[in-house]
Parts: sequence; structure tokens; C-alpha cells
Amino acid sequence: MPRRPSLLLLLVAFVIGMAPAAVSQAFRTAAPLRIGAAWYPEQWPPDKYPGRWDADLTLMQQAHMNVVRIGEFAWSSLEPSEDHYDLDWMEQAIALAARHHIAVVIGTPTDAPPAWLTSKYPDTLGMNADGRLREHGGRRQFNYASPTYRRLCALIVARLAERFGHNPNVIGWQIGNEYTDESFDPATRARFQQFLHDKYKTLANLNQHWSTAYWSQTYTDWSQIPMVNAGGNPGLLLDHKHFVTATWRSFQREQIGILRAAILPTQFITTNIGGLGWSDNWDHYAITADLDLASWDNYVGEGHLQAARNAMLNDLVRGWKRQNFWVMETEPGSVNWAPINNALDPGETRALAWQTIGHGADAVLYWQWCDALNGQEQYHGAIVGPAGRPLPIYTEIQQLGHDLDLTSSALAGTAPQSQMAILHDYDSRWAIDFQPHSKDYDQQQVLLRFYTPLNAIAQSSGHAIDIVDPASAPLDAYKLLVAPSLNVISADLAGRLVAYVRQGGHLILGPRAGMKDEFNAVNPQRQPGPLAGALGGHVVQYYALLPAPLIAVTAPDGATGTADTWAETLAATAPDTRIDLVYGPGNGWLTGKPAMITRTIGSGSISYLGTLLSPDLLRSLLQRAAAQAGVAPPAQHLPPEVELCVRAATSQGKIRRVFILINHSDTPHSATLSGSFLSLLPDIHAVAAGIASSTPSTQIDLPPQGIAVLTQNSEPIR
Ligand code: GLA
Repeated sequence: MPRRPSLLLLLVAFVIGMAPAAVSQAFRTAAPLRIGAAWYPEQWPPDKYPGRWDADLTLMQQAHMNVVRIGEFAWSSLEPSEDHYDLDWMEQAIALAARHHIAVVIGTPTDAPPAWLTSKYPDTLGMNADGRLREHGGRRQFNYASPTYRRLCALIVARLAERFGHNPNVIGWQIGNEYTDESFDPATRARFQQFLHDKYKTLANLNQHWSTAYWSQTYTDWSQIPMVNAGGNPGLLLDHKHFVTATWRSFQREQIGILRAAILPTQFITTNIGGLGWSDNWDHYAITADLDLASWDNYVGEGHLQAARNAMLNDLVRGWKRQNFWVMETEPGSVNWAPINNALDPGETRALAWQTIGHGADAVLYWQWCDALNGQEQYHGAIVGPAGRPLPIYTEIQQLGHDLDLTSSALAGTAPQSQMAILHDYDSRWAIDFQPHSKDYDQQQVLLRFYTPLNAIAQSSGHAIDIVDPASAPLDAYKLLVAPSLNVISADLAGRLVAYVRQGGHLILGPRAGMKDEFNAVNPQRQPGPLAGALGGHVVQYYALLPAPLIAVTAPDGATGTADTWAETLAATAPDTRIDLVYGPGNGWLTGKPAMITRTIGSGSISYLGTLLSPDLLRSLLQRAAAQAGVAPPAQHLPPEVELCVRAATSQGKIRRVFILINHSDTPHSATLSGSFLSLLPDIHAVAAGIASSTPSTQIDLPPQGIAVLTQNSEPIR
């Protein structure tokens, strides 16, 4: 057992800002899949609620749960007054959980500082963009850049790390909770100006990249530069996002440094990412890079599970670190923060959980086990009621727990496999959202319009879709890359993408690709900027479209469809650049102009699609591109309501695949899979079909919201 570092050593780790040690994967080996909940023992102290902890943990155990997250909002209970710590209650809760075979993830409590702290150290409070200083009474009132706050965070984190870093029942740590609000106070503004100085070195360089001659914005001193998050110079706005990312990253790194120096290498470090996965307060690739594991909070909110969109968000999350992840929070049937907090239908909560697992989640935890008797979330969905008795959703979650008991060993170590990827980056998201030019250009919807047909193509051959960062992800393994909104393309990135195409990859650029450089300045070549040469063409003009009329487009083979929202006219400038789509007659500036062009380079190709197409035309276009790129042909034909997720792993030269079928509808559906399968869940039968035919197939009948988990007989690697 390694020697436990002293508190002093841990604080030294903070002061010298030790860069976090390499991300450890020790925790990963054959980790069982986890199911659990957020539990707040500090809200139910044994002296006031005798036996409550044990009753909670007993019910959790009966629901087959094997993990709880505790502590992320417990600072005032862990340090009731400055330098007076009480960690005993947490130690007792962890020990009791161990007796119920329930492991623990500890949240560092730095998202909600105690009143004594912010009242004694007011510079720890954050300031909103409107200049209003945040105050105690809620959460996220702290200033993420405040050195005082960070010093005080280091003290409590060091205490926790020292006490629980070697506790065998603690399997991981969550830093803070959903990094959300930055601060606009004068001290942080000065840090932003220093950040710019470090980046641009000279004001001349900054003035040039931000074109500050425009509106006489020219800066003659760094202290003149404002810090705004809206309405400002696009160069400044993008750099502010980089500053926010860097500030959260250093906030996180300081805690990682302290934890890393104290905890067992088998204890992982993560943070739970909020904003329904789609938030872009900061660069998620940068923030998760320092973590062992990415985790997010997967909520539906109002309405019901939108299967395609939620699948996409889970693939986005998996792409942050390009590995399986945790769903650190999801709703036990309902939330409290949506305009209408309706309940999910019976079975829908379980289906959501299985969808996340199908897309790479190795754990699903519910928020929350039980609502506090008072506080801002009394109405949130929970698993047990205020008296600790199970609520109706308990049975459904218990069923999910039982599912995992039966399937965890087959699923452990497996992950979705992909042959195609969508390129997604935050600079491009920010650049377009700063200036959408059309209120209808919703980037999440644009991504979903490309993701849905691509995901259907991938599913039909038992694969998944990766959504990855073009700047950091290895690309060569992908047969086809699609970039729906890659607005910012630097020369470096262009070089990476051309190299990908030259080695035989197929790249489809979507609208607005490469309009901007890494300073959010317009690329003089026009879209696709530094890729115009390789494409052998470029955008002549772009047009925001009114909702009606839809614009007709036609392909040389006669295929037709429509374009909406955004349209770019293209010019093919190289003799070997092919025109794939043209805008129809009677469309003003667009009439007869190319809407899509492609150039073959070696055994690869690069295409530019300058508009958003109607679903059928886009699907057929992507199917053709996938086939030409050598993506595995469709093998499975499923009803549209049934989703197929496949997780695989290779071991001892054999591929191990687990097929997960999810019926996302309220009516029964049958699915036939080619191949012979074993059902791992007792209520679902895999019936051999087409015995006579050369390729065996299996029929699976799924009830409404039904789930099937099937294993395929192991087969040697082909
Ligand atoms: C977020 C937070 C939780 C809780 C839930 C409510 O995800 O992390 O503390 O507020 O939302 O849905």
C-alpha cells in the first residue's frame, strides 16, 4: 500500500500547480457496469433521522444498485466553520454503503461554498455579465478565477483526498458540479487581458487579427480591452471562450493535482457535464482531456425521449474522450426545471438508460435518490419519497438494475465501433452562434439532420457513429467523415484533412465550412477557405433563406429534393471537380448554380455541400457516399421505431459483440437480425428464423419500450 501523502504535501501539490499526472486507466480493467443514484446523507443526519441511511442503502441494494455519488454539495456539513472539519459522517456513510456492496463516488463540494466563506471572503463571489455580484442562497455563486476561492477549494479537497483517497469503497471523484457560470469582475477582466497578451504578444498583432480599424476599435493599451460574451468583436468573443475554457481547466487542474497526489490510481477523476450535453460554455474536448473519464447529465426535461437526438448527444459525449463514459445524472422519470415537468412514460426511463449504455455509457446514476425536504428542488423526480418509501419509478429502475446484473459481464470492456465520423468543434459552434445570420440556423438541428441518416446507415451494419474533434482525433481509421458546420478551419486543420483525403479518406464538408480562420476572421478565399485548393472550387455567395418557398435541387442522375434555411452557390474551378447537385430554375440568384461539388484525390475524395437538404435526398446522397467509401453494407433491416446499438470488444483474437435493441415506441414491434443470437434478458425470446436459408436469422418481439440484449456466438477476427 503506497505511503499516504500528508496534507501539507497535498497543498504543495496545489501551490506548484502540479500538472495532473497522466490520465490513469487503471480503474477501467473489467469494471462492471454501474447503476446508482445521487445520495445526500448530510440532509438526513442520523440523530434526526435514525436508521434512514441504512433504509436507503437497503432499498438501493434491492434495486441492484452498486454505486452512489455523495458530497458534491456538502461543504457546509464537511467544514461547518473555517478550519473546523467534520468528515466523520461521510466516513460512516461510505462504510455503511460498503456493507451494502455499494461503491462511492465523492463529489468535491466546490460548486456551492458555505455562507461563512463568501461572507468572510467576498472576492470569492462571481460577477455576472451585467455587473451584478452573485450572492449566497443558491449555488454557482463562486468566482472560478478567484485565487482566494481556489485556495479555499484546495484546502477542502486536500482534506477529502487525504481522508478518502485510500478508502477501498471509494471508486472515483467528481470535481465540482456542472461548471457553468464564469465571472466578469474587474480582476478576472485583467486576467483576460493578460491571457490575450500572452497569446498575441503585441497589440499590433491583436489589432490585425481582430481588424480593429473597424469602428475604430484599435487598442493602444491592453487594459482598454473589454470582456464581453455577446455583441462584441468576433475575434474577442472567440478568445473570451478560449479564456473561459482555460480558466475552468486550471480550476479543475488544481483539484486534479491535489487528488492525483493522494488517491489510489484505481480511483478515477471526472466531472459531471451539464447543459444537456449540448452546452458550449467552454471547450469540452479541452476540459475532458485532463480527466480519466467523461461523464454527463442526460435529462429529457419537458416532453418525451427524442431517440435520435439523445443518441446523437450520447455519441457527442463519447467523442469528448473517444472512450466510454458515465451518465452521472439522469432523471428518475421527471425533473423540476422544465417549462412543464411531465413524467416519462412507463418503460421510457429504462429505455433511456439502455440507449446511453448502447452508445457507450458504463454507468447510469439517477438524480436523485430522494428530494430534500426543503430547498430549490423539492419537486424534482426522485426514486423514494420524503419518508423514504419507494415511488412508482423505483420498480422500473429496479428492473434496470436486474438487467445489468444479467448483462454486465457481457458488456464490460465493450464499446461502440464506428467506420464513419462527424466532425464537430467548439470554435466553429461559437463562431456561427455569435453570428447565425439566420434565426433558423440551429446548429443542433443541423447536426441532427446529418446524424440521423448516417446513424441509420451505421446501425444497419451493426456500427455506431463517432462525433469527434477534427483537430485532435485520429482520422485515418474512418472511411467517411462528414462536417456539417465546420465554420472555423485553420491552415493546420486543413492540412490534416487533406492528408486524410490523400490517404484514401472521403470527406463531405457541409455549409459554412472554412469561412473563418482561428481568429474568427473571414478567410479571403471564401468557403472552404484553406481547403479551396484541394476541393478545386469554392463558394461564390451565401444566402440565408426565408422559410418558404423551399428551393428545388436536382442531381445529374435525376434525383431531386429541396434545400432550406441556408444556400451557397459554388464554383468548380478545377477541371476534375464534379458538380453533384444544382439549384432548380426560378430561384433567383441560386437558379442553376452548383449546390454540391466533389473532387476525387487519389483514392479519396472531398465534397462541399452548400445547403441543407430534404431528408430523403440527403439520405440517398449519404448512402451513396458511404458505399463508395467502403463502409460495411447494410445487414440488418429494423423497423424505424427500433434502435440497434452494438458494443464490441476483441479478446484472444475473437470479436465479442453485444446487440442492444430498444423499442422507442408505445406499440409492440418485431425485429429480425441476421445471425443467431442468445437473449440475456429473461422476458425477451430470440427465436431462430429462416432456418432453411443459408444465413440464419433471429426474430425478437419487443413490447412497448421493450429492451433486448443479445450476444452473438463468438467468431474469429476476419
Ligand atoms: C443538474 C445538477 C443537479 C440537479 C439536477 C436537476 O444536473 O447537477 O444538482 O440540480 O440538474 O435536474
